[in-house]
Amino acid sequence: MRRSAGGVSVITAGIGEDRTGATVTTAISFSVEPETMLVSINLSSSTWPAIRRYGHFCVNVLSNEQQAVADRFAGRGGTKGPARYLGSSWSRLVTGAGVLDDALASVDCEVEEVIERHSHALIFGAVRAVRLRDGAALAYGNGRYGTLNAL
Ligand SMILES: Cc1cc2nc3c(=O)[nH]c(=O)nc-3n(C[C@H](O)[C@H](O)[C@H](O)COP(=O)(O)O)c2cc1C
Repeated sequence: MRRSAGGVSVITAGIGEDRTGATVTTAISFSVEPETMLVSINLSSSTWPAIRRYGHFCVNVLSNEQQAVADRFAGRGGTKGPARYLGSSWSRLVTGAGVLDDALASVDCEVEEVIERHSHALIFGAVRAVRLRDGAALAYGNGRYGTLNAL
């Protein structure tokens, strides 16, 4: 699937010193009616227990200027928990999960259902709020970041 280039998002969960998050390519809009998101998270990642505990997550769709944010939330350089939020500006919408101020889209979700299967949890989120901004999306494919400028 590395041959399939796709958008990159940062999933956030938790509050204050208890917040963390992960870079993902698996966030999708599962259904429109009702508005529902779906993301696949590794059960061994630090983000899974935070989503479970807080019952929320926010999908922040990254722009092509946010590769450094993607690296931080992928844990590159050993960054953990709240330290992943440093260097960017954040706010909250409804659930309290971190909303990245310069993200192309932030979709704030309340956990609706979880399916644990193999190494991962499939997490369905009921959309509670959305914030949008214009810009070019960050893409990931073949193990590299790029941009899909024509779109
Ligand atoms: C481009 C990219 C996409 C990723 N997509 C996912 C994903 O969909 N699900 C997932 O669980 N981890 C994904 N990861 C890995 C997590 O970002 C990474 O394992 C996590 O942030 C670090 O785990 P930790 O929080 O336990 O330190 C991806 C990493 C990168 C660089």
